[in-house]
Parts: sequence; structure tokens; C-alpha cells
Amino acid sequence: MEELFEKIKEAYDIVEVVSNYVRLKKVGRNFVGICPFHSEKTPSFVVSPEKQIFKCFGCGEAGDVVNFYMKVNGLTFKEALLELAEKAGIYIEEKVFSEKKRENELVGLAYKVAKFYNHLLFFHPGAEEAREYFKERGLSEDTIKQFLLGFAPQEGRVLTSYLRTSKEDFKAAEELGLIRQVQDGSFVDLFRFRVIFPVFNLKGECVGFAGRTLLKEDEPKYLNTPESKIYKKSEILYGLYQAKEYIKKEKTCFLVEGYFDFLSLWEAGIRNVVATCGTALTTSHVKILKGLTEEIILLYDGDEAGKKAMVRAVSLFIKEGILPKCVSLPEGEDPDSFVRKGSLDRAYFMEKIKELTQDGVSFVVACYQEMFRQNSSKAYREIIEVFQGIEDPILRKKIAKELSFRLDLPETEILRSLTTRGRSDKTRVFIPSCDNNSTETKEDSCLKMIAQYLVSYPEDLGILEEAGLLKYLEGCFSKYALFLKKLTEGLKKEPGKLPDISDPEFQTILSDLLFSPSFENREEVLNDIKTFIHKSLIKLELKKLAENIKNLETIGAKEEKDQCLCLLKTTLISKIDGLNRIDKLTK
Ligand code: UTP
Ligand code: MN
Repeated sequence: MEELFEKIKEAYDIVEVVSNYVRLKKVGRNFVGICPFHSEKTPSFVVSPEKQIFKCFGCGEAGDVVNFYMKVNGLTFKEALLELAEKAGIYIEEKVFSEKKRENELVGLAYKVAKFYNHLLFFHPGAEEAREYFKERGLSEDTIKQFLLGFAPQEGRVLTSYLRTSKEDFKAAEELGLIRQVQDGSFVDLFRFRVIFPVFNLKGECVGFAGRTLLKEDEPKYLNTPESKIYKKSEILYGLYQAKEYIKKEKTCFLVEGYFDFLSLWEAGIRNVVATCGTALTTSHVKILKGLTEEIILLYDGDEAGKKAMVRAVSLFIKEGILPKCVSLPEGEDPDSFVRKGSLDRAYFMEKIKELTQDGVSFVVACYQEMFRQNSSKAYREIIEVFQGIEDPILRKKIAKELSFRLDLPETEILRSLTTRGRSDKTRVFIPSCDNNSTETKEDSCLKMIAQYLVSYPEDLGILEEAGLLKYLEGCFSKYALFLKKLTEGLKKEPGKLPDISDPEFQTILSDLLFSPSFENREEVLNDIKTFIHKSLIKLELKKLAENIKNLETIGAKEEKDQCLCLLKTTLISKIDGLNRIDKLTK
């Protein structure tokens, strides 16, 4: 993979590739144009032919040629690599190639199965009930055809015999979880007496299935095919393939949780909608949606579980820089029942929805109202946790302002809570920071500065290593810390040369840093960095000692505790000396 990545970067000129999507104009050493990743009127999208990277100064997207190709075409990193390799006639290793071939076979078979179940819906003698069911639930024949909805009969070996007579690949069907072998060695179908929902990926390939039972008391209500080479549930949104153009056009997107919620909205003419399929929302889902629009409206069930899931979704979106809107449906309603109450009228539905829509902040605060009355500190902590981890300072401020208004607390207080790590969260790793006013942003900006420095002067790795950079990074897991770990690793392999690492996140950060203006005073910055690392390491050590003492105290080990205290005292003295020295040095 690494090798392929390097070959591709050699084979392509980023200016040429971007030109296929963006009209570029030469300005100085760079090219500029209108950004394809967000809507803008004045061009802030810059491509550097020298460095072979791009960056948008409007939305912040940045990266190399593979990154660009991947984002602009909505592909995964691997897909982008393979497509670019094919176009450039680059030889692809046998293994990568056969993997891709297998994936093609699987989506091919999945599509045939979808067609088969769809055919049965219209022609199987036992399908009357299923057709009646769809009708009852308000779905037209058009929608059924558009989503290739189907029917799996009661018999239980219908798919297996179809696969046998059409000489299809049993292994592939088994791999997709559509059939399974039973004790006597024969195969049986997964779905029996269910209506079938094929699931498509962004390219319109069929990758998975869900089946809803036609019997009231049957469990589970929905049966889903498992994850496979081609079906990654955390990355697939139901209906996205059909809805994506509508989402771009409307510039907003409804997010629902159920297949029928999606289909009923679609039927009613609301087409800028997608659903998660049988799993909770993930960061990958959020990232995919973010590529289409930043206006998200969460539309979950009106019960407690729906509200809880919606709070969780707000938190996931916030971490990607989006504050979604939330709709509170009346208790007992879901989007499907709600839209059908309005007798499938789009205008009426939109009107009603508007009344029930709140911004994410007021929705979350409202959800905690009850808890607030009983235990306000706990409620406060939980609310803060939902909104923690916002990187964009403008969004953070906006949210702090809104929370300050809703909770009647000073904005500065809330800002501080939003930026300090939750103490209750034991799974988080302690990260030393540069001063007592410890905030996540300050630490991040120091790490970013180090990254920026090392990208500009890779030859100084030795100096930073000596200052203890690697030791400091050990306990850090933030975005820039991970970047720095990879960067230093690469620089060690090939000193002085920025590494080609085939990781889109790495490339994005690298490109972003390469576009930032260089330091005016290199010496001064280097000194600041050294001081920061020294101080952080000292603090880390002191903190460890302090924790040790506390632990010993709780288990009542007096002697050990005294020893530890003694050690702390000597350490403190030497460290204070050290700090003074550093301060003198850097003054
Ligand atoms: P719900 O239980 O809210 O069902 O599940 P629903 O969408 O209202 O279903 P209908 O209207 O009775 O047909 C919401 C979603 O959770 C997943 C499905 O994706 C479903 O659409 N789910 C639910 C499962 O995967 N398995 C289940 O057993 C139940
Ligand atoms: Mn429902």
C-alpha cells in the first residue's frame, strides 16, 4: 500500500487532477479557484504545484492529490488509490487486486439477490400479504421499485435453490450472511416471511440487507445481514445513494433511525433524508454527511430512547464541528407515523416539523431539565460532556454563549468547563499542559506549533528529541500528537525528508501545515518549544508522584508514603531549580 501510494504521487500532478473539477487561475506560485467542498463566491481554494498539495482557506479542507480525489468523489482512501492507479496504468499487487475482485463479486451477487427478492414480491404466490403490508404502510409501487424492496417467503430455502439453479457462488452468499449451513450440511436462507430492504453504498452498489418480519410476535422485528468485506455498518447510511443529490440541493438533511421512517418521508416527497441501518450513529456517518451539508436535522422517535439517542448524536456532530437541529416529536410518535398522520402532504409536514424544531443546545438542555431539578451539578456535568471537544473556537464560543443563557451561568465559566477535560472520565489519559490555566486548546496549540516547526525544519528532529519530545508524546493521543508520532517515526527512517505516509488524516494535517506561513523567528520558537516540553515533563513527573502519595495514603502505607514524600521534596527542589534555569535561559 505504501509503495502504491508513492507511485501514485509520482504519477500525478495535483494541478491537473484538480483542474478536472475546479477552474484554476495562476496567482504567483500557486493556483486558486472556487472550493469544491463548500459553497463560496470568492475563491479561497489554493493549490501548490511545488508542494503538490491543496488547502481551502474558507473551510479548512487540505491534503494531497489522493486526498483530493477521495474527498471530491466521495471514495474511501483505498478506493481512491485503486482508481488512480488504474487510470495511470500502475501495476497493482496481485493481493490488492484479488481483494478488489472479490468485492466486485460480492456486490454483484448481492444485487442479484436484491433483484430476486424484489421479483418474488410481485410474482411469488405467497407474496400477497407482503404487498398488502407495504400498501398498508403507505408505500407506492414507485418507491418499492426505487429501493428494490422485496419479499422472502416462508419456505426458508427459496434463495438457496435459486442460487443453486442459477449456479451462483454459495460461498459468496454465505460470506454475505444471506444463507447458512445447517447440521446436515445443507443450506438454509437467513430471511423467512419478511419484507426485504436492500442496503446500497454511496456508489449504488448493493452491500447488505435488512428484513422486517410480517408476523406481529416474531423476534427480532428487524433481521440484518452481518458486516462483511463490503458491508461496514458504521459507514453506510440507508438511502444516501438515492438522497444525496436532494441533500446537496436542499442544503439540509434529515437524519432518522428506521427504514420505514426513511421510506415514509421519501414517499411524502421529503427526499433530503437518510437513516442509520440497525446501528447507532458513528463518527464515520457524521463525516460522510458533513461532506454533503452542515445543516443536519435530527428526527428520532418521540420517546425517551429516541431523545437519549438524539443527545448522543448531537455530541457526535459537535465533535465534528456541526451543531445539528433537533425535532422533538410527540411521545409515542416516530417520523413514519408522524408524516403519515399529515396524510402524506409535504408542505403540511414541513410546517409541523418547523414548530417542533429546536437548535441542538436548547434541545439538550431541555432533556436535562428533570435531572437539573434533582441534581443540578450532575446535570451540568453531563451537559458539558455533550458539548466538549469542539475544535472550532467560534462554534465553541457560540455554544458557550447559548449555554450561558439557558443555564444562567457566566459564559467564561462555561468556556472553561468546555475546554478542561472532564475529571470524572477515568478512561481519558492525562496530558500535561503548558501552564496552570490548563486548557485543551492551549495544549493543542503548543502541539500544533511543534508540528509546524518540525514540518518547516525537519533537520531539527535531533534537537527536539534531546529536549524530550518523544517521551512527552508517549502519553498524548490528540490529533497533533498522533501526527507528530508518525512524523518523527518517518523522519527517523529518512532524516530530513518529510515522509510519504499513506494515511489521509496525516496528509490533511501535513498539507495544512505546509500552507501556514513560516516562523519569523526560528530561534525563539525553538526555545519556546523546548521550554514547553521541559515544563510539561516536569509537571508530569510531579503529578505522578502526587498520585502515588495519594494512593499510598488511601491504602494506609505510612512508611512508603513518608519515603515518597521525601522523594517528592527532593524532586521538587531540583525541579524548581530546573524551572528557574529554563526561565533564565529563555529570557
Ligand atoms: P424501531 O423499533 O423504532 O422500529 O427500530 P420502527 O422503525 O418503528 O419499525 P416499524 O415501524 O415497526 O417497522 C428502528 C430501527 O432500528 C433497527 C432498524 O433499523 C429499525 O428501522 N432495528 C430495530 C433493528 O435493527 N433490529 C430490531 O430488532 C429492531
Ligand atoms: Mn415505526
